[in-house]
Amino acid sequence: MGAQAEKWVLMVTARTPTNIAVIKYWGKRDEKLILPINDSISVTLDPNHLCTTTTVSVSPSFVEDRMWLNGKEISLQGGRFQSCLREIRARANDVEDEKRGIKINKEDWQKLHLHIASYNNFPTAAGLASSAAGLACLVFSLAKLMNLKEDNSQLSAIARQGSGSACRSLYGGFVKWIMGKEENGSDSLAVQLADEKHWDELVIIIAVVSARQKETSSTSGMRDTVETSALIQHRAKEVVPKRIIEMENAIQNRDFASFARLACTDSNQFHAVCLDTYPPIFYMNDTSHRIISCVEKWNRAEETPQVAYTFDAGPNAVMIARDRKTAALLLQRLLYNFPPQPDTDLDRYVIGDKSILKDAG
Ligand code: ADP
Ligand code: DP6
Ligand code: CO
Repeated sequence: MGAQAEKWVLMVTARTPTNIAVIKYWGKRDEKLILPINDSISVTLDPNHLCTTTTVSVSPSFVEDRMWLNGKEISLQGGRFQSCLREIRARANDVEDEKRGIKINKEDWQKLHLHIASYNNFPTAAGLASSAAGLACLVFSLAKLMNLKEDNSQLSAIARQGSGSACRSLYGGFVKWIMGKEENGSDSLAVQLADEKHWDELVIIIAVVSARQKETSSTSGMRDTVETSALIQHRAKEVVPKRIIEMENAIQNRDFASFARLACTDSNQFHAVCLDTYPPIFYMNDTSHRIISCVEKWNRAEETPQVAYTFDAGPNAVMIARDRKTAALLLQRLLYNFPPQPDTDLDRYVIGDKSILKDAG
């Protein structure tokens, strides 16, 4: 491990954007491996706006694996973190820093301990996909540190075991998570449908309706849905497979009318399925509903839809405007109808683009 074994620390920093699903993942067929009951499609956001930054470090002087999230130590004991760490360590390779006289053989990674510090620059566990950016960034930065040779798709299958939606944050642009057929999950991974340059006139505006932590985590919410909702099977088997094909076509053809119809109806159906869960789950609030009405009214008044909306497991609205001019008008309408005020209806707005994954380390 090198002459100055006790003294060195090796670290890598990476930054990963979040992604917002336009055809939602909701429901698992395998809880441990995190295998979904349907395919999903997302847009990866601009890393300058909503992103996670994670620094992973290794040193012979560390005596246990430790992690800090937003400055506060959290436990790494959960099965999901352990799955990711185990899968990455199993694929680790030799790492050499000649200048500093450090050599780590691949077997050493089994004994060496890690310190991980991660920051989200947006609300955690509030329905803006912090688990997606967070777990993707963890896997990506550890893969760099341990010199993994796997490509992003293979890494996505590891990130998936940390949080399902995380597999889609390994790519920029438009991404599909293929549910896969294998029992061991080897074919349940993300692929890029179109890169970040494709359809770059789209602008994303996020209304942070509430930055508060949600009452029902995505994990437990979708578990309850699968156990109690009669609608979820219809959604997963009949509705989503057709929408996936239509959405892929809409993206390839830059067909905004179809894109908006599919994204809005899929978001609405996801929240309908939450209501069909027993006891019911309410992720949206009154402000979310008023934002939907505002966008729907506008779209109906035009010849063709101008704005698409989608809501994840929280009250925050993600709106996608067809072009920059529309985005400016949308922001104007939002600021007039929903002015941001601390501790009231609306916290703040975030404006971004689709994006690429950037390696900061
Ligand atoms: P969200 O809608 O924000 O994705 P979830 O309920 O899906 O909410 O997941 C929130 C959980 O994800 C957090 O409680 C935490 O365990 C994990 N998480 C969030 N950010 C990070 C991060 N940067 N690194 C590691 N884990 C994270
Ligand atoms: C509504 O990926 O957060 O955002 O796999 O249990 O970690 P776990 O859940 P998570 O669920 C995301 C649900 C969603 C829709 C989506 O991102 O596709
Ligand atoms: Co999540």
